Amino acid sequence: MFKEIRELVPAASGWMIGPLMYLMCERTKPRKTLELGCGFGYTSLHIAYWTTYNTGRHVALDNNAERLDQLNNHAKQLNLDLMTVKFDAHNLCVKNVESTYDLCHVDLPFELSIKCVRLVSDYIQPGGILGINHWKGCLIEPSGPGWCKIIQAYRPKPHKNYLTIWQKED
Ligand SMILES: C[S@@+](CC[C@H](N)C(=O)[O-])C[C@H]1O[C@@H](n2cnc3c(N)ncnc32)[C@H](O)[C@@H]1O
Repeated sequence: MFKEIRELVPAASGWMIGPLMYLMCERTKPRKTLELGCGFGYTSLHIAYWTTYNTGRHVALDNNAERLDQLNNHAKQLNLDLMTVKFDAHNLCVKNVESTYDLCHVDLPFELSIKCVRLVSDYIQPGGILGINHWKGCLIEPSGPGWCKIIQAYRPKPHKNYLTIWQKED
C-alpha cells in the first residue's frame, strides 16, 4: 500500500512522513484521527490505511476543494475510508471539530499551525496525540500547551523540518 500511495500522490512534506504516520498509528492505535491541512493527501492516505483496517475513521481537512476532491478519488481507488471537510484555518471554530480525537496531525503553514494546535488541543482524548509538522527547523517553538510533553522530534537535515509530537500526560 505504501508503494501505491507514493505512486498516486505527491509527498509534499517529504516521503518519510507517510510511513511515519502509519507507524505512529500502529503504535498508538487511535480510533478517531483528525488532520488539519491534508493537501493532496499523502499523509491522509497513510493514516486512513491504518484506520480503515482497524475500526477507525480518518477526518481530513483543507481549504483547497480541488485537493479534497482528488483525495476522495484516491481513497476510493485504494478502497480506503476517510471523510474530507473543507475548512479555513483562519476561521477554525468548534463546529469544524465536533468530536474528540485520539490523534491529531497538523500540517498547515506555520503560523496557522500554532493557532490551530492551541484550539484543537481541547479536542484530543486524554492520552491522545497531537502532532505538528512544522517548517522552521526549530524544536523550541512552539512550546505547546502546558499539559503536553514532546515525545518525539523527527526530520533530519537538510530539510530542517521536524515533526514534533506532544502527548498528553496521564
Ligand atoms: C504542507 S501542505 C499539506 C501536505 C499534506 N499533509 C501531505 O502530506 O500531502 C499544507 C496544506 O495547508 C493547506 N492550507 C493552507 N492555508 C490554509 C488555510 N487557511 N486553511 C486550511 N488549509 C490551508 C494547503 O491547501 C495545503 O494543502
